[in-house]
Amino acid sequence: MSIAISSRRPRETFVLVATLVFNFLFLSLSSDPDPLQDFCIGDTSVAFSVNGFPCKASSDVTADDFFYDGLSREISTNNSFGSGVIMGNVLAFPGLNTLGISMNRVEIAPGGINPPHLHPRATESGIVVNGTVLVGLITTGNVFYSKNLTAGEMFVVPRGLVHFQFNIGTEKALIFTAFNSHLPGNVLVAVNLFGSNPAVPDDVLSKAFLVDRSVVDEIKSKFGG
Ligand code: GLV
Ligand code: MN
Repeated sequence: MSIAISSRRPRETFVLVATLVFNFLFLSLSSDPDPLQDFCIGDTSVAFSVNGFPCKASSDVTADDFFYDGLSREISTNNSFGSGVIMGNVLAFPGLNTLGISMNRVEIAPGGINPPHLHPRATESGIVVNGTVLVGLITTGNVFYSKNLTAGEMFVVPRGLVHFQFNIGTEKALIFTAFNSHLPGNVLVAVNLFGSNPAVPDDVLSKAFLVDRSVVDEIKSKFGG
């Protein structure tokens, strides 16, 4: 950028520099922070955490701390969504602690859906291993992007955007997803609004969705709200 900063007035220069500094900070904070050591196997038994878990003593670390077989197991899709997710995040696999990555295994029965949700702390990428899946995401500008994917095809969901996977095939779909956070967070939109504890008042949801309270009550009854 060959902007002649010196020829601008001080106020303009300040705004330009402040914008550049802000952009730099934003970029460098857009995923988990970099680790300051080779590894920090999370000690999940302690009752406190500071942006991650304290490290297990190196003398107690074994080979097993670097491996996790949780994503090798088949998941039941026998529920109202017809889908199941095994989360391979730092809570399940403490070896990920501070490393800024994690993975999930997602299975979806024919006609089932991994319902609209978002990850507040991570961008997601995924690969379809089996089946035919409609993958969709919605931007903050309410633009809907989607595509039908089959085995070997990848997708990406930018951090914080609402997205879903819908099995449009005839066989069970298997997807592996990866995140740039050891704990991406998972906000299931419908459950978040209609199944929270304590419940969001009916009047709020009725006004927000422009429907009668009876409709709100019906939806709430399906999500335990
Ligand atoms: C899929 O969207 C996942 O969060 O694993
Ligand atoms: Mn997701």
